Amino acid sequence: MKLSPQKLRQIAEWFSEAGISDVIAEQEVSKKNKKTISTLAELKAVMSKVNIPMKECALNMVFGVGNENADILFVGEAPGAEEDKQGIPFVGQSGQLLDKIMNAVGLDRTKVYITNILPWRPPGNRTPTTEEMTLFRPYVLKHIALINPKIVVCLGGTASKTLLQTNDSLSQLRGRPVRIAEISAEIFATFHPAYLLRSPSQKREAWSDFLHIKSLLSAQH
Ligand code: URA
Repeated sequence: MKLSPQKLRQIAEWFSEAGISDVIAEQEVSKKNKKTISTLAELKAVMSKVNIPMKECALNMVFGVGNENADILFVGEAPGAEEDKQGIPFVGQSGQLLDKIMNAVGLDRTKVYITNILPWRPPGNRTPTTEEMTLFRPYVLKHIALINPKIVVCLGGTASKTLLQTNDSLSQLRGRPVRIAEISAEIFATFHPAYLLRSPSQKREAWSDFLHIKSLLSAQH
């Protein structure tokens, strides 16, 4: 997904409507920093300085959690209320379901790394905008590159569309690993656990995705 001049103008307008005059210049600075960031602590420090209105409504920045040498990295959408309170990804109801699904295929938080597209809770838990997804994509790519997993699992449409830069639906993306130029890992899209809580009949499909993910992991060893 290349951004057209019109889209770039829309993004600039969005920033200016948000009342942030220097945000674009700041993102430019961050872009330079991204090239020299070589640790998770440096990435976290740079991200914490991103100037974006949603940050003012959040209690905590939610960066990432888990095994920094993991072969598998999960990417969600954005922190919810509980994650915002604790500053840790996937600790609310969705996180508890994610833990159960992982456990069922022999994974747990000591073996995986978990992060989100957005590090702050969007006000009222709204879905991230395209502009927010575009803004944070380079940081997520850097985050993934620093962990260097073999498999990246996108939980839900926001993570899948952001990383794969597509408007395809999750049902079109699910079930087949793909690669993108920016990272070496295989990327696998599956349901978001919050969706599975709302649509338990889909758990069977999620189970087959996780068996597939497990077999991809075994094939890498
Ligand atoms: N939903 C997400 O996408 N991420 C979290 O961390 C929690 C809920």
